Amino acid sequence: MKPLRIVLTSDFHFSANPNISDQIIPLMRYGKEVLGVFLKQMQDMQIDLFILCGDHTVSGKKQDRETFQKELFKIKESGIPILMTTGNHDFDLCSIEEYQDTYLPLLACTNQDPSSLSYSYVKDNIRFLAMDDSSQKKIGFSEETMQWLEHELIQSENQTVIFLSHHNLFLNAWHKNPLQYQIQNKDLIPLLHKYGVKLAITAHQHVPYIQTQDSLTEIVLPAPLASPFQYGYLEIGDDLHYEVRNLDLQKYNPLLYWASIQKVNNCHELRKTGFLKFFEKRYDETTAIQMTDSLQTWFDAYEKGTLSSFQTDPLFLHTLHELHASGYEEYILYLLKHHETSVRILTDTL
Ligand SMILES: [Fe+2]
Repeated sequence: MKPLRIVLTSDFHFSANPNISDQIIPLMRYGKEVLGVFLKQMQDMQIDLFILCGDHTVSGKKQDRETFQKELFKIKESGIPILMTTGNHDFDLCSIEEYQDTYLPLLACTNQDPSSLSYSYVKDNIRFLAMDDSSQKKIGFSEETMQWLEHELIQSENQTVIFLSHHNLFLNAWHKNPLQYQIQNKDLIPLLHKYGVKLAITAHQHVPYIQTQDSLTEIVLPAPLASPFQYGYLEIGDDLHYEVRNLDLQKYNPLLYWASIQKVNNCHELRKTGFLKFFEKRYDETTAIQMTDSLQTWFDAYEKGTLSSFQTDPLFLHTLHELHASGYEEYILYLLKHHETSVRILTDTL
């Protein structure tokens, strides 16, 4: 059987405002163009499915939703089915009804949960569960949605199940604040184990990583408008292959490519200046520069998802110690510890 080829993205935080701040997410002003690159690249790759795991727009504002929807319609009309989960920011300035009106016409759907915006989609014996963990007050699912989920899992006998959500399954580097990122239903992970689910794909963190616990793997997707413009690529045939890839801006939109290099450099310079000022108050100039460079190297690896290749050294650990009060030390050490294996490629049998 021909393998199913899927492109996954999340956390566009799309804004139609041409003056939106781009100091933290460098390509914020180019969301429309980046969606255009996705379309061209997916057509060339002959992709079978496009998945977006929430935080589609920056706040759910009408103008942002409508522009984003228009671009997604072009992808749908090109023959690529679309799945979307909800994200927390999608409801900042948008009601559940407005969300439905905007995105439901775009979606490929097999069964819908009557009590939330969750739904399933079955293709080639694979059941995708696009879960709505964001439209309610808490991060997670109601009792009714948990029952609907179990019903879907019962129906999935002899199928491969892929669980999709915006918020995360497992604790991660922000383990002191799980209420801000982790799905709160205590019975969720046991339920997924009970029905032999092996793969969950989530988002919200903006940087890519993979965690596995007791044969259940969670892939966390990168955000495409942050550098270096990554997306998830998943191929499911006799086995499963996942890797983080980069959008080919150079090929599909050379003008955007050059503008993006400029933007990223500016963004990195600003970050560097901030850290340098911080270290200069405590150390001589040479040491402050060394510490800033050390941290910059870490950030580059962090954004690219290549922490496994990052070597810690005494200067770096010392630099981290200086960041203790900000909470960054603990966070960075956790990430280093949990990225012993590469996050770039995962191959597994199903
Ligand atoms: Fe989010």
